[in-house]
Amino acid sequence: MIPAAGETSAPVAVVTGGARRLGRHLCETLAARGYRVVIVYRASVDHATSLVAHIERAGGVARALQADIGRSSDVQRAFDDIAVHEGRVDLLINNVGNYNPQDVTRLDPAVWDETLATNLSGAYYCCYQAIKMMPDGGQIISIGMAGLEGIRANRRGADYYVSKTGLLVLTRALAAGYASRHIRVNMVSPGQLDNSIDLPPPEAIGDEVPLGRAGTLEDIGQAMEYLLDAPYVTGANIDVAGGYRL
Ligand SMILES: NC(=O)c1ccc[n+]([C@@H]2O[C@H](COP(=O)([O-])OP(=O)(O)OC[C@H]3O[C@@H](n4cnc5c(N)ncnc54)[C@H](OP(=O)(O)O)[C@@H]3O)[C@@H](O)[C@H]2O)c1
Repeated sequence: MIPAAGETSAPVAVVTGGARRLGRHLCETLAARGYRVVIVYRASVDHATSLVAHIERAGGVARALQADIGRSSDVQRAFDDIAVHEGRVDLLINNVGNYNPQDVTRLDPAVWDETLATNLSGAYYCCYQAIKMMPDGGQIISIGMAGLEGIRANRRGADYYVSKTGLLVLTRALAAGYASRHIRVNMVSPGQLDNSIDLPPPEAIGDEVPLGRAGTLEDIGQAMEYLLDAPYVTGANIDVAGGYRL
């Protein structure tokens, strides 16, 4: 039984990129489950502020914190702040995942560096800081990209796929490394979400997604909730993708 969010014994969830889109949905879901939610945003201060107000109106507890997670000093500052205000981290959701697809024959090294710094190094910085404040039994869930395990050449967005594959390797390493503390580390991997910048028209979606529709934020939230309640699952990746890239 999770204590009500207003109680200081309530568990603390930190969600990176939490102010908008999928991150916002996950924050709302976690707040409704009784987590005190720390919403980490980079630039979307208005979205983050309105989400805090929205969660509080619904009886939850939330706080917004600015950080560029691609900078380890920013991440340290953010978690130092969490140590002072919340005092613990029970759950980290690594949701940030920038996607600026370029053909691999024209992939700008600056884009490569930015993607790897944000999607992979940034996630590691957050894991490193969060685990220091995590009680035994804590959790990390990273958001990946469906199809990683059968990885094929992707000319468009190679930097993104490298970062997400690296995140899966990191997920499994951390799961093995921290199992003795019962810290579970898993991944949820969407395919084509209905807010995707690459979404095909409705009549063509079935060509890419065997189940014939784009994924919803609720589909991903449901998988996150499964993992929250699955004490024997660690080091796993769940594709929530309607068969995308099977
Ligand atoms: N959408 C899809 O179809 C799809 C498909 C497969 C996988 N995914 C994965 O699902 C996750 C969420 O996707 P999404 O489309 O909802 O994400 P998104 O809108 O692209 O990004 C979410 C948030 O990440 C934050 N962010 C970016 N760089 C940051 C940094 N350096 N430091 C801190 N925050 C940073 C941004 O915050 P600010 O706005 O505050 O700058 C942004 O609002 C990602 O990991 C993505 O790879 C999405």
